[in-house]
Amino acid sequence: MGNTYVFVNQKGGVGKTTSAINIGAFLAEAGKKVLLIDFDSQANLSSGIGLSGIKPGVYELISGMSGINEVIKETAVSGLSAIPASIDLSGAAVELIEQQDRDFFLSKAIAPVKPSYDFILIDCPPSLGILTINGLVAADKVLIPMQCEYFAMEGLSLLLQTIKRIQKLNPILDVGGIFFTMYDARTRLTQEVVRQVSAHFKKQMFNTIIPRNIRLSESPSHGVPISQYDPQCMGAKAYKTLAEELIQRD
Ligand SMILES: Nc1ncnc2c1ncn2[C@@H]1O[C@H](COP(=O)(O)OP(=O)(O)OP(=O)(O)O)[C@@H](O)[C@H]1O
Ligand SMILES: [Mg+2]
Repeated sequence: MGNTYVFVNQKGGVGKTTSAINIGAFLAEAGKKVLLIDFDSQANLSSGIGLSGIKPGVYELISGMSGINEVIKETAVSGLSAIPASIDLSGAAVELIEQQDRDFFLSKAIAPVKPSYDFILIDCPPSLGILTINGLVAADKVLIPMQCEYFAMEGLSLLLQTIKRIQKLNPILDVGGIFFTMYDARTRLTQEVVRQVSAHFKKQMFNTIIPRNIRLSESPSHGVPISQYDPQCMGAKAYKTLAEELIQRD
């Protein structure tokens, strides 16, 4: 069953975490059983859903100190669970490098619970290092959030090459979709980037574009997804539509 999605873009601050949280929340609101996995030592996803500083988490899971059922936590959204991260995860990256099966730790750790969820969403750090590779090996599909800026295309080519390389380790892996975030229709460059990338990656593009919306940047500080913070704002409506599109594609 191909229910595991990983949010990847080696570029920082493009909306990976915001998208994982809010797509996850709207999938749960649509009645799906969803597990979010914070796989970034910045732990932004964890704080964004009110699980800041909660342990044991994903580090304890992949290092074998805790079992999967000990690290899955409930969130304020019914149907939405999460495995939190902490700064300890940065140490795991170093420890993993020395292990022979270093690329498979996350995949093996979540295998027992995969059948229990409709969607598992993994949030990765802004790099193509060992943690992101673990995320790609554990996933069935890659979701790529992109900001509408000049170097977007270059970054995307590197990422697609990496995905090809990982397919040797995980043949199931495929691009689940590319979508634009923080869209600001007022600039011409933005519109031009959207036009170019959409022409080039027609099949992979989601129709939904996430606008730049201040409410989306405020909600993490309240520890809840946008569906609870301000369900009527533009950002909420866009993520709801994107979640629906994902369900349809799935
Ligand atoms: N659509 C949006 N409108 C306005 N602000 C946004 C939007 N999406 C994300 N942000 C804000 O932009 C910043 C970066 O977003 P986010 O943390 O989701 O990116 P990221 O790709 O996960 O970053 P990193 O690479 O550091 O993990 C955050 O402060 C977030 O609140
Ligand atoms: Mg992030």
